[in-house]
Amino acid sequence: MTDMTSIEILDPRLAELIRKDVERQRRNLQLIASENFVPYAMMQAAGSVLANKYSEGYPGRRYYEGCRYVDEIEALAIERAKRLFGADHANVQPHSGSQANMAAYLAVCEPGDTILGMRLDQGGHLTHGSPVSFSGKLFDFVSYGVDPETERIDMDEVRRLARQHRPKMIVVGYSAYSRIPDFAAFREIADEVGAVYLVDAAHIIGLIAGGAHPNPVEHADIVTATTHKALRGPRGGLVLCKERFAEAIDKAVFPLTQGGPINHQIAGKALAFEIASRPEFAAYATQVVRNAKVLAKTVADGGIRVVSGGTDNHMFLADLRQFDPELTGKEAAAFLDEMGITLNRNAIPFDPRSPFVTSGLRLGTPAVTTAGMKQEQMILVGTLVVEMLRKRRDPEALGQFRGALVELIDEFPAYPADFPGYVG
Ligand SMILES: Cc1ncc(COP(=O)(O)O)c(C=O)c1O
Repeated sequence: MTDMTSIEILDPRLAELIRKDVERQRRNLQLIASENFVPYAMMQAAGSVLANKYSEGYPGRRYYEGCRYVDEIEALAIERAKRLFGADHANVQPHSGSQANMAAYLAVCEPGDTILGMRLDQGGHLTHGSPVSFSGKLFDFVSYGVDPETERIDMDEVRRLARQHRPKMIVVGYSAYSRIPDFAAFREIADEVGAVYLVDAAHIIGLIAGGAHPNPVEHADIVTATTHKALRGPRGGLVLCKERFAEAIDKAVFPLTQGGPINHQIAGKALAFEIASRPEFAAYATQVVRNAKVLAKTVADGGIRVVSGGTDNHMFLADLRQFDPELTGKEAAAFLDEMGITLNRNAIPFDPRSPFVTSGLRLGTPAVTTAGMKQEQMILVGTLVVEMLRKRRDPEALGQFRGALVELIDEFPAYPADFPGYVG
Protein backbone atom coordinates (compact mmCIF):
# COMPACT_ATOMS: atom_id res chain seq x y z
CA MET A 1 0.00 0.00 0.00
CA THR A 2 1.08 3.54 -0.56
CA ASP A 3 2.48 5.57 2.31
CA MET A 4 -0.50 7.13 4.18
CA THR A 5 1.64 9.16 6.60
CA SER A 6 0.30 12.68 7.01
CA ILE A 7 2.28 15.65 5.76
CA GLU A 8 2.84 16.87 9.35
CA ILE A 9 4.85 13.72 10.07
CA LEU A 10 6.43 13.25 6.65
CA ASP A 11 7.49 16.84 6.04
CA PRO A 12 6.84 19.08 9.04
CA ARG A 13 8.72 22.02 7.49
CA LEU A 14 6.47 22.02 4.43
CA ALA A 15 3.32 21.52 6.56
CA GLU A 16 4.35 24.48 8.67
CA LEU A 17 4.89 26.71 5.62
CA ILE A 18 1.42 25.81 4.32
CA ARG A 19 -0.05 26.56 7.75
CA LYS A 20 1.76 29.91 7.75
CA ASP A 21 0.21 30.82 4.43
CA VAL A 22 -3.27 29.88 5.69
CA GLU A 23 -2.57 32.20 8.60
CA ARG A 24 -1.47 34.94 6.17
CA GLN A 25 -4.66 34.41 4.16
CA ARG A 26 -6.70 34.55 7.37
CA ARG A 27 -4.94 37.52 8.97
CA ASN A 28 -4.66 39.86 5.97
CA LEU A 29 -7.57 41.34 4.13
CA GLN A 30 -7.31 39.97 0.58
CA LEU A 31 -8.08 42.60 -2.05
CA ILE A 32 -6.09 41.12 -4.95
CA ALA A 33 -8.60 41.19 -7.81
CA SER A 34 -7.52 37.82 -9.27
CA GLU A 35 -7.61 35.84 -6.02
CA ASN A 36 -10.27 34.01 -4.07
CA PHE A 37 -10.77 31.41 -1.33
CA VAL A 38 -11.66 27.92 -2.59
CA PRO A 39 -14.18 25.85 -0.65
CA TYR A 40 -13.13 22.68 1.18
CA ALA A 41 -14.77 20.45 -1.47
CA MET A 42 -12.53 22.09 -4.09
CA MET A 43 -9.46 21.01 -2.15
CA GLN A 44 -10.90 17.48 -2.01
CA ALA A 45 -11.42 17.36 -5.77
CA ALA A 46 -8.20 19.13 -6.72
CA GLY A 47 -6.13 17.23 -4.15
CA SER A 48 -7.49 13.84 -5.19
CA VAL A 49 -5.75 10.71 -6.55
CA LEU A 50 -6.85 11.72 -10.04
CA ALA A 51 -3.40 13.34 -10.01
CA ASN A 52 -2.01 9.82 -10.60
CA LYS A 53 -3.65 9.33 -13.97
CA TYR A 54 -2.15 9.91 -17.39
CA SER A 55 -4.79 10.48 -20.06
CA GLU A 56 -3.31 12.22 -23.11
CA GLY A 57 -6.09 12.81 -25.60
CA TYR A 58 -9.77 13.49 -25.03
CA PRO A 59 -12.70 11.50 -23.52
CA GLY A 60 -13.13 8.31 -25.56
CA ARG A 61 -9.93 9.04 -27.55
CA ARG A 62 -7.02 8.49 -25.15
CA TYR A 63 -3.51 7.18 -25.63
CA TYR A 64 -3.64 5.33 -22.28
CA GLU A 65 -5.78 2.60 -20.76
CA GLY A 66 -7.71 2.98 -17.52
CA CYS A 67 -9.34 6.26 -18.49
CA ARG A 68 -13.01 5.39 -18.03
CA TYR A 69 -13.52 7.51 -14.93
CA VAL A 70 -11.35 10.43 -15.97
CA ASP A 71 -13.28 10.29 -19.26
CA GLU A 72 -16.53 10.67 -17.35
CA ILE A 73 -15.09 13.45 -15.20
CA GLU A 74 -13.76 15.42 -18.17
CA ALA A 75 -17.03 14.90 -20.07
CA LEU A 76 -18.91 16.16 -17.00
CA ALA A 77 -16.71 19.27 -16.81
CA ILE A 78 -17.19 19.92 -20.55
CA GLU A 79 -20.97 19.48 -20.38
CA ARG A 80 -21.26 21.72 -17.34
CA ALA A 81 -19.06 24.44 -18.90
CA LYS A 82 -21.08 24.38 -22.14
CA ARG A 83 -24.35 24.63 -20.25
CA LEU A 84 -23.17 27.29 -17.82
CA PHE A 85 -21.87 29.62 -20.52
CA GLY A 86 -24.09 28.60 -23.45
CA ALA A 87 -21.08 27.53 -25.54
CA ASP A 88 -21.02 25.15 -28.51
CA HIS A 89 -17.74 23.61 -27.40
CA ALA A 90 -15.53 23.59 -24.30
CA ASN A 91 -11.95 22.47 -23.73
CA VAL A 92 -11.21 22.11 -20.01
CA GLN A 93 -7.60 20.94 -20.31
CA PRO A 94 -5.57 24.20 -20.41
CA HIS A 95 -3.24 24.24 -17.41
CA SER A 96 -3.69 28.00 -16.96
CA GLY A 97 -5.10 31.14 -18.55
CA SER A 98 -1.82 31.69 -20.38
CA GLN A 99 -1.97 28.16 -21.81
CA ALA A 100 -5.56 28.76 -22.91
CA ASN A 101 -4.47 31.90 -24.76
CA MET A 102 -1.50 30.16 -26.34
CA ALA A 103 -3.74 27.39 -27.63
CA ALA A 104 -6.37 29.85 -28.89
CA TYR A 105 -3.81 31.96 -30.78
CA LEU A 106 -2.14 28.91 -32.32
CA ALA A 107 -5.49 27.38 -33.29
CA VAL A 108 -6.08 30.36 -35.56
CA CYS A 109 -2.79 32.15 -36.28
CA GLU A 110 0.59 31.26 -37.71
CA PRO A 111 3.74 32.68 -36.09
CA GLY A 112 4.26 36.18 -37.45
CA ASP A 113 0.53 36.90 -37.90
CA THR A 114 -0.87 40.19 -36.64
CA ILE A 115 -3.10 40.24 -33.55
CA LEU A 116 -4.84 43.34 -32.18
CA GLY A 117 -5.07 43.53 -28.37
CA MET A 118 -5.17 45.95 -25.46
CA ARG A 119 -2.02 47.82 -24.43
CA LEU A 120 -0.37 46.05 -21.51
CA ASP A 121 0.09 49.29 -19.58
CA GLN A 122 -3.63 50.08 -19.89
CA GLY A 123 -5.13 46.80 -18.74
CA GLY A 124 -4.00 44.07 -21.15
CA HIS A 125 -2.28 40.88 -19.97
CA LEU A 126 1.30 39.69 -20.59
CA THR A 127 -0.10 37.15 -23.04
CA HIS A 128 -1.56 39.99 -25.12
CA GLY A 129 1.76 40.74 -26.78
CA SER A 130 4.38 41.48 -24.14
CA PRO A 131 7.88 41.08 -25.58
CA VAL A 132 8.80 38.90 -22.57
CA SER A 133 5.87 36.52 -23.25
CA PHE A 134 5.53 33.84 -25.96
CA SER A 135 2.77 36.06 -27.37
CA GLY A 136 5.09 38.96 -28.20
CA LYS A 137 7.79 36.63 -29.49
CA LEU A 138 5.53 34.58 -31.77
CA PHE A 139 3.07 37.18 -33.06
CA ASP A 140 3.06 40.72 -34.32
CA PHE A 141 0.84 42.43 -31.75
CA VAL A 142 -0.70 45.82 -32.44
CA SER A 143 -2.26 47.53 -29.40
CA TYR A 144 -5.30 49.68 -28.71
CA GLY A 145 -5.85 51.62 -25.50
CA VAL A 146 -8.25 53.81 -23.59
CA ASP A 147 -9.37 57.34 -24.33
CA PRO A 148 -7.32 59.70 -22.11
CA GLU A 149 -10.46 61.63 -21.09
CA THR A 150 -12.94 58.87 -20.34
CA GLU A 151 -10.36 56.15 -19.58
CA ARG A 152 -12.68 53.76 -21.43
CA ILE A 153 -11.69 51.71 -24.49
CA ASP A 154 -11.33 54.01 -27.46
CA MET A 155 -13.50 52.18 -30.02
CA ASP A 156 -12.55 54.67 -32.76
CA GLU A 157 -8.92 53.71 -32.26
CA VAL A 158 -9.81 50.01 -32.28
CA ARG A 159 -11.65 50.47 -35.61
CA ARG A 160 -8.86 52.54 -37.12
CA LEU A 161 -6.13 50.06 -36.10
CA ALA A 162 -8.21 47.11 -37.29
CA ARG A 163 -8.73 48.71 -40.71
CA GLN A 164 -5.07 49.69 -40.96
CA HIS A 165 -3.50 46.39 -39.84
CA ARG A 166 -6.21 43.87 -40.79
CA PRO A 167 -5.29 41.55 -37.89
CA LYS A 168 -5.91 37.82 -38.04
CA MET A 169 -7.37 38.04 -34.54
CA ILE A 170 -8.78 40.70 -32.20
CA VAL A 171 -8.36 40.14 -28.45
CA VAL A 172 -10.83 41.70 -25.99
CA GLY A 173 -10.68 41.11 -22.22
CA TYR A 174 -8.29 42.47 -19.63
CA SER A 175 -6.44 42.21 -16.31
CA ALA A 176 -7.09 45.73 -15.12
CA TYR A 177 -10.14 47.32 -16.72
CA SER A 178 -13.19 48.09 -14.63
CA ARG A 179 -15.75 48.70 -17.38
CA ILE A 180 -17.83 46.37 -19.55
CA PRO A 181 -16.41 46.08 -23.07
CA ASP A 182 -18.86 46.61 -25.94
CA PHE A 183 -18.78 43.00 -27.10
CA ALA A 184 -21.22 43.64 -29.99
CA ALA A 185 -19.17 46.57 -31.34
CA PHE A 186 -16.00 44.44 -31.34
CA ARG A 187 -17.95 41.78 -33.29
CA GLU A 188 -18.80 44.32 -35.98
CA ILE A 189 -15.18 45.44 -36.27
CA ALA A 190 -13.92 41.86 -36.41
CA ASP A 191 -16.44 41.07 -39.15
CA GLU A 192 -15.53 44.17 -41.12
CA VAL A 193 -11.83 43.25 -41.27
CA GLY A 194 -12.29 39.46 -41.35
CA ALA A 195 -10.61 38.85 -37.96
CA VAL A 196 -11.29 36.02 -35.54
CA TYR A 197 -12.77 37.50 -32.36
CA LEU A 198 -11.34 36.25 -29.05
CA VAL A 199 -12.50 37.33 -25.61
CA ASP A 200 -10.03 36.65 -22.80
CA ALA A 201 -12.51 36.44 -19.93
CA ALA A 202 -9.92 35.33 -17.33
CA HIS A 203 -10.98 38.00 -14.87
CA ILE A 204 -14.71 38.19 -15.50
CA ILE A 205 -15.68 34.55 -16.13
CA GLY A 206 -16.97 34.13 -12.57
CA LEU A 207 -19.18 37.19 -12.89
CA ILE A 208 -20.44 35.89 -16.24
CA ALA A 209 -21.20 32.49 -14.66
CA GLY A 210 -23.23 34.23 -11.97
CA GLY A 211 -25.07 36.48 -14.44
CA ALA A 212 -23.45 39.64 -13.04
CA HIS A 213 -21.67 40.55 -16.29
CA PRO A 214 -22.75 40.31 -19.96
CA ASN A 215 -21.77 37.00 -21.54
CA PRO A 216 -19.39 37.37 -24.51
CA VAL A 217 -19.97 33.78 -25.68
CA GLU A 218 -22.76 34.76 -28.08
CA HIS A 219 -20.55 37.41 -29.76
CA ALA A 220 -17.04 35.96 -29.73
CA ASP A 221 -15.64 33.10 -31.82
CA ILE A 222 -13.44 31.96 -28.93
CA VAL A 223 -13.54 32.75 -25.21
CA THR A 224 -10.59 31.88 -22.98
CA ALA A 225 -10.67 32.01 -19.19
CA THR A 226 -9.08 31.04 -15.92
CA THR A 227 -10.99 29.02 -13.34
CA HIS A 228 -9.30 30.30 -10.18
CA LYS A 229 -10.27 33.96 -9.99
CA ALA A 230 -13.86 35.11 -9.28
CA LEU A 231 -15.06 31.65 -10.46
CA ARG A 232 -13.52 30.26 -7.24
CA GLY A 233 -12.36 27.01 -8.82
CA PRO A 234 -8.97 25.27 -9.04
CA ARG A 235 -6.01 26.99 -10.72
CA GLY A 236 -6.48 26.33 -14.42
CA GLY A 237 -7.65 27.48 -17.82
CA LEU A 238 -10.64 26.99 -20.09
CA VAL A 239 -11.47 27.57 -23.75
CA LEU A 240 -15.03 27.96 -25.05
CA CYS A 241 -15.68 28.32 -28.77
CA LYS A 242 -18.07 28.13 -31.67
CA GLU A 243 -18.38 24.70 -33.25
CA ARG A 244 -16.31 25.66 -36.30
CA PHE A 245 -13.24 26.27 -34.11
CA ALA A 246 -13.72 23.15 -31.92
CA GLU A 247 -11.35 20.83 -33.75
CA ALA A 248 -8.61 23.44 -34.13
CA ILE A 249 -8.85 24.40 -30.43
CA ASP A 250 -8.68 20.78 -29.26
CA LYS A 251 -5.63 20.10 -31.44
CA ALA A 252 -3.97 23.32 -30.29
CA VAL A 253 -4.38 22.36 -26.60
CA PHE A 254 -3.24 18.77 -27.14
CA PRO A 255 -0.88 17.84 -28.72
CA LEU A 256 0.32 21.24 -29.95
CA THR A 257 0.93 23.05 -26.65
CA GLN A 258 0.33 20.58 -23.80
CA GLY A 259 0.83 16.97 -22.81
CA GLY A 260 -1.26 15.01 -20.32
CA PRO A 261 -4.28 16.75 -18.78
CA ILE A 262 -4.17 17.57 -15.06
CA ASN A 263 -7.08 15.38 -14.06
CA HIS A 264 -7.43 16.56 -10.45
CA GLN A 265 -7.70 20.12 -11.73
CA ILE A 266 -10.28 19.05 -14.29
CA ALA A 267 -12.31 17.45 -11.47
CA GLY A 268 -12.04 20.78 -9.63
CA LYS A 269 -13.29 22.59 -12.75
CA ALA A 270 -16.29 20.22 -12.95
CA LEU A 271 -17.08 21.07 -9.34
CA ALA A 272 -16.58 24.81 -9.89
CA PHE A 273 -19.01 24.80 -12.85
CA GLU A 274 -21.56 22.91 -10.77
CA ILE A 275 -21.28 25.34 -7.86
CA ALA A 276 -21.37 28.32 -10.22
CA SER A 277 -24.65 27.13 -11.75
CA ARG A 278 -26.47 27.41 -8.41
CA PRO A 279 -28.50 30.42 -7.26
CA GLU A 280 -26.14 31.05 -4.32
CA PHE A 281 -23.33 31.68 -6.78
CA ALA A 282 -25.43 34.18 -8.72
CA ALA A 283 -26.02 36.00 -5.44
CA TYR A 284 -22.27 35.89 -4.77
CA ALA A 285 -21.37 37.32 -8.20
CA THR A 286 -23.92 40.11 -7.79
CA GLN A 287 -22.51 40.90 -4.37
CA VAL A 288 -18.92 40.99 -5.74
CA VAL A 289 -19.96 43.77 -8.13
CA ARG A 290 -22.00 45.63 -5.49
CA ASN A 291 -19.04 45.48 -3.13
CA ALA A 292 -16.63 46.76 -5.78
CA LYS A 293 -18.92 49.71 -6.54
CA VAL A 294 -19.18 50.68 -2.87
CA LEU A 295 -15.45 50.19 -2.28
CA ALA A 296 -14.62 52.37 -5.31
CA LYS A 297 -17.00 55.10 -4.19
CA THR A 298 -15.60 55.07 -0.64
CA VAL A 299 -12.03 55.33 -1.92
CA ALA A 300 -13.01 58.18 -4.27
CA ASP A 301 -14.94 60.00 -1.54
CA GLY A 302 -11.81 59.70 0.60
CA GLY A 303 -9.80 61.63 -1.96
CA ILE A 304 -8.14 58.93 -4.11
CA ARG A 305 -9.11 59.21 -7.79
CA VAL A 306 -10.68 56.07 -9.26
CA VAL A 307 -9.73 55.42 -12.90
CA SER A 308 -12.72 55.98 -15.23
CA GLY A 309 -14.71 57.19 -12.21
CA GLY A 310 -15.90 53.81 -10.95
CA THR A 311 -16.45 50.16 -11.78
CA ASP A 312 -18.96 47.81 -13.40
CA ASN A 313 -17.18 44.62 -12.39
CA HIS A 314 -15.15 43.16 -9.53
CA MET A 315 -12.19 45.56 -9.51
CA PHE A 316 -10.94 49.08 -10.08
CA LEU A 317 -7.74 51.09 -10.26
CA ALA A 318 -6.90 53.85 -7.77
CA ASP A 319 -4.70 56.70 -9.02
CA LEU A 320 -2.55 58.01 -6.14
CA ARG A 321 -1.03 61.02 -7.91
CA GLN A 322 -3.41 63.74 -6.71
CA PHE A 323 -3.85 62.16 -3.28
CA ASP A 324 -0.10 62.27 -2.65
CA PRO A 325 2.30 63.08 -5.50
CA GLU A 326 5.18 61.44 -3.60
CA LEU A 327 3.40 58.15 -2.94
CA THR A 328 4.04 55.42 -5.55
CA GLY A 329 1.93 52.33 -6.12
CA LYS A 330 4.88 50.19 -5.07
CA GLU A 331 5.29 51.97 -1.76
CA ALA A 332 1.55 52.10 -1.04
CA ALA A 333 1.02 48.38 -1.76
CA ALA A 334 3.99 47.33 0.39
CA PHE A 335 2.84 49.58 3.24
CA LEU A 336 -0.76 48.34 3.13
CA ASP A 337 0.40 44.72 3.12
CA GLU A 338 2.41 45.42 6.25
CA MET A 339 -0.71 46.95 7.78
CA GLY A 340 -2.77 43.86 6.90
CA ILE A 341 -4.38 44.79 3.57
CA THR A 342 -3.04 42.80 0.61
CA LEU A 343 -3.47 44.21 -2.89
CA ASN A 344 -1.17 44.96 -5.81
CA ARG A 345 0.41 48.00 -7.39
CA ASN A 346 -0.79 48.63 -10.92
CA ALA A 347 -0.02 51.02 -13.74
CA ILE A 348 -2.80 53.47 -14.41
CA PRO A 349 -3.50 54.56 -18.00
CA PHE A 350 -0.71 56.89 -19.23
CA ASP A 351 1.22 56.27 -16.02
CA PRO A 352 4.35 58.45 -15.88
CA ARG A 353 6.07 55.93 -13.60
CA SER A 354 7.58 52.57 -14.63
CA PRO A 355 5.53 49.36 -14.36
CA PHE A 356 7.70 48.30 -11.41
CA VAL A 357 6.89 51.46 -9.48
CA THR A 358 3.53 52.71 -10.87
CA SER A 359 1.18 55.42 -9.64
CA GLY A 360 -1.73 53.11 -8.94
CA LEU A 361 -3.26 50.30 -6.95
CA ARG A 362 -5.64 47.57 -8.12
CA LEU A 363 -8.39 46.60 -5.69
CA GLY A 364 -10.81 43.70 -6.14
CA THR A 365 -13.65 42.16 -4.16
CA PRO A 366 -13.96 38.43 -5.07
CA ALA A 367 -12.12 37.15 -1.97
CA VAL A 368 -13.64 39.46 0.65
CA THR A 369 -17.08 38.69 -0.78
CA THR A 370 -16.42 34.95 -0.38
CA ALA A 371 -15.55 35.71 3.24
CA GLY A 372 -19.07 37.17 3.58
CA MET A 373 -18.44 40.90 3.50
CA LYS A 374 -21.08 43.22 2.11
CA GLN A 375 -21.48 46.95 1.38
CA GLU A 376 -21.26 47.95 5.04
CA GLN A 377 -17.86 46.30 5.39
CA MET A 378 -16.69 47.80 2.08
CA ILE A 379 -17.23 51.28 3.49
CA LEU A 380 -14.96 50.37 6.39
CA VAL A 381 -12.38 48.73 4.12
CA GLY A 382 -12.30 51.73 1.75
CA THR A 383 -11.97 54.13 4.65
CA LEU A 384 -9.12 52.08 6.14
CA VAL A 385 -7.25 51.98 2.81
CA VAL A 386 -7.48 55.76 2.42
CA GLU A 387 -6.81 56.69 6.03
CA MET A 388 -3.93 54.25 6.52
CA LEU A 389 -2.23 55.80 3.49
CA ARG A 390 -3.03 59.34 4.59
CA LYS A 391 -1.75 58.80 8.15
CA ARG A 392 1.03 56.40 7.29
CA ARG A 393 3.52 58.32 9.45
CA ASP A 394 1.19 58.55 12.45
CA PRO A 395 1.73 55.42 14.61
CA GLU A 396 -1.12 56.23 16.99
CA ALA A 397 -3.69 56.54 14.21
CA LEU A 398 -2.30 53.43 12.52
CA GLY A 399 -2.72 51.49 15.76
CA GLN A 400 -6.41 52.37 15.83
CA PHE A 401 -6.88 51.45 12.16
CA ARG A 402 -5.14 48.11 12.76
CA GLY A 403 -7.52 47.44 15.64
CA ALA A 404 -10.56 48.08 13.43
CA LEU A 405 -9.09 45.88 10.67
CA VAL A 406 -8.37 42.97 13.01
CA GLU A 407 -11.91 43.16 14.35
CA LEU A 408 -13.31 43.07 10.81
CA ILE A 409 -11.14 40.13 9.78
CA ASP A 410 -12.06 38.22 12.93
CA GLU A 411 -15.72 38.68 12.09
CA PHE A 412 -15.24 37.45 8.48
CA PRO A 413 -12.49 34.80 8.51
CA ALA A 414 -11.51 33.12 5.25
CA TYR A 415 -11.08 29.73 6.93
CA PRO A 416 -11.67 28.33 10.44
CA ALA A 417 -8.90 29.07 12.95
CA ASP A 418 -7.82 25.41 13.24
CA PHE A 419 -7.78 24.73 9.49
CA PRO A 420 -4.33 23.44 8.46
CA GLY A 421 -4.69 24.57 4.83
CA TYR A 422 -5.12 21.12 3.30
CA VAL A 423 -7.63 18.31 3.35
CA GLY A 424 -7.21 16.40 6.60
C1 LIG B 1 -6.70 38.76 -18.77
C2 LIG B 1 -5.85 37.62 -18.33
N1 LIG B 1 -5.56 36.66 -19.21
C3 LIG B 1 -4.79 35.61 -18.88
C4 LIG B 1 -4.27 35.47 -17.62
C5 LIG B 1 -3.34 34.34 -17.32
O1 LIG B 1 -3.76 33.43 -16.42
P1 LIG B 1 -2.71 32.45 -15.68
O2 LIG B 1 -2.03 33.27 -14.64
O3 LIG B 1 -3.58 31.34 -15.16
O4 LIG B 1 -1.75 31.96 -16.72
C6 LIG B 1 -4.56 36.44 -16.65
C7 LIG B 1 -4.01 36.31 -15.29
O5 LIG B 1 -4.06 37.15 -14.47
C8 LIG B 1 -5.36 37.55 -17.02
O6 LIG B 1 -5.62 38.54 -16.16
